[in-house]
Amino acid sequence: MKKIYIGKKKYIFNEISSTMDIANFFIHTGIEEGTVVVAKFQTDGRGSNQRKWLSNGNDALFSIIMKPEISLMSTLPIISAFSIYKVLEKFIDTEIKIKWPNDVLVDGKKISGVLVENHIKTDNYSIIGIGININSDHKKNNTFIYPSVSLKELLNEKIQPLEIVEDVLKSFENIYNEILIGKLKISNLSDMLYGLNKRVAFRTNYKSFDRQSENTYYKIISLNDDGTLEVSDNNGKKISINASEIIT
Ligand code: BTN
Repeated sequence: MKKIYIGKKKYIFNEISSTMDIANFFIHTGIEEGTVVVAKFQTDGRGSNQRKWLSNGNDALFSIIMKPEISLMSTLPIISAFSIYKVLEKFIDTEIKIKWPNDVLVDGKKISGVLVENHIKTDNYSIIGIGININSDHKKNNTFIYPSVSLKELLNEKIQPLEIVEDVLKSFENIYNEILIGKLKISNLSDMLYGLNKRVAFRTNYKSFDRQSENTYYKIISLNDDGTLEVSDNNGKKISINASEIIT
């Protein structure tokens, strides 16, 4: 199987609306798989569930353009989160967890988020947007929905965002290729899950327009190889969920 290289081509911008927008523009020009768009500042950074992604600069903000088989698309959030996990564990002694499907938490605080946009047309593309809090200030700034933290706050030193971007791209390249050849199985990553074997609240029936939602409690059992989450309901019935958000 052909190895997929990530970040051989990188476009680095000082200030753009969002790396997702530029990546989206590039896919219409027939760009090579693994191309990366990096920004120092985003004026319209996007998070999941139509939230904003805020960064006051000096964080890692980038998008990777991929051309996966459709069956692999649902695995991209967890593969990305695991790639970030592997890089952060080199720096941090504290507990790191993956909050399915796309958040990375350190000591329960969000340090990174992943947003995947899939384009299924004649040519299939996925754009993986990654934001990692590197030097931003989260202790004093409480405008974030969830408790959050940056790498600088954990290490008490400034880190170059581009160094972390490079490390995550390498990590993603290794993990993605291992998944492609079957050397690594997503189900083997279940131990890293936040809330494993616990009953947690999920936001379901998310209505993006009026932002109302209902919460359902499930016990988290494991990750499935297709990136979906195996949970059990109050009656012990097992189900696989593919789109939802853990809220507690
Ligand atoms: C989330 O946790 O809600 C996902 C956040 C994803 C943020 C990144 S920053 C780089 C890329 N460009 C964006 O506008 N969003 C993603």
